[in-house]
Amino acid sequence: MQVYDLPTPALLIDRGKLKRNLENMANVAKIHQVKLRPHTKTHKSPYIAHLQQAYGAVGVTVATQDEAEVMAYNGIPDVFAAYPVVERQRAMRLARLGRLAKVRVGVDSEVGARHLSKAALEYKVSLGVLIEIDTGLKRSGLAEVAQIIALAKTIDQLPGLKLEGLFTHAGHAHGQDQAGREKISKAEGKIVVEIAKALNEAGFPVEEISCGSTPSAKIVAGVPGVTEIRPGVYVFNDGSLVAGGTATWDECALTVLATVASNPTSERFILDAGSKSLATDQGKNVVGFGAIKGQEKAKITWVNEEHGIIEGRSLGLGIGDKVEVIPNHACVVMNLFDEYYLVEDGLVLGRIPVAARGHRHFA
Ligand SMILES: Cc1ncc(COP(=O)(O)O)c(C=O)c1O
Repeated sequence: MQVYDLPTPALLIDRGKLKRNLENMANVAKIHQVKLRPHTKTHKSPYIAHLQQAYGAVGVTVATQDEAEVMAYNGIPDVFAAYPVVERQRAMRLARLGRLAKVRVGVDSEVGARHLSKAALEYKVSLGVLIEIDTGLKRSGLAEVAQIIALAKTIDQLPGLKLEGLFTHAGHAHGQDQAGREKISKAEGKIVVEIAKALNEAGFPVEEISCGSTPSAKIVAGVPGVTEIRPGVYVFNDGSLVAGGTATWDECALTVLATVASNPTSERFILDAGSKSLATDQGKNVVGFGAIKGQEKAKITWVNEEHGIIEGRSLGLGIGDKVEVIPNHACVVMNLFDEYYLVEDGLVLGRIPVAARGHRHFA
């Protein structure tokens, strides 16, 4: 089947671009001799997680419990759950996975550590723990050294847990120019390495220093002491990474195929992909709600749920024509579709489920 025969809106992943993106990040890890543990929240697809392993990843990072389960049940042997666990149910589900895969968990509270310890004992597994450090994003994670040492002490005393290291995510590197990225990414690495030193001195050896986002990965990988990077959106790239200068349009592997559903004037085109296909995330310095592949200056001006409206330009298209839209934020778009089409050279190679999308709450 040809790509342009597909019903729309359809989520497309260009296999050639995907593989180039995987290779480029694998090279970053290789050059700096750090481990690569990509975040699967971007693709939510075991097929792509396995490709990442083939390109040198040591395992995956997940945010949701569904991602953790889908990855482990589909044979990914090493899963890092980088989201605070604060109640019994999630702790039990992670401990259960500890019977099937190597499971490590991020923690930033004593409450979370105690739940994990109890769950690990019930399932008779040992769970690796990484303390989450806030290096400037001001989301979850601790920043006070005394608080971090106190948590390390608690984890060290809890049965079923093994304190393995520290992790951080410099999400504030998104939307920065090169100078901003350099500053944030170097600080990201330096802050965690210094905290690791303080922990070592306090008698808690730190083996793993895990950092990274897509914009900070190349820089933080070169900070001495960093052992692992965890980029996510690099697999696809998107309009917001292009706006920040981290990627080019040609490196964007994920697009939404859409049909021109209406063309009421020569300078207004309505696509059948709106907020329910493209989302409404924008990101710093991003104009509009998606760019037309091949004519990227043409942006979707505004969206309704099933309408993407392009105003103020003549695209040379007519009703029924199909275009590919490069979304602003690939990760949220992936989560909107049940399946994606793997495409290459204008041909459809496969229809693959977005297996970990949404929140299913398997108990
Ligand atoms: C904890 C954590 N690690 C890694 C990532 C990957 O970052 P990016 O999507 O910028 O590649 C994220 C993204 O949200 C994250 O929350």
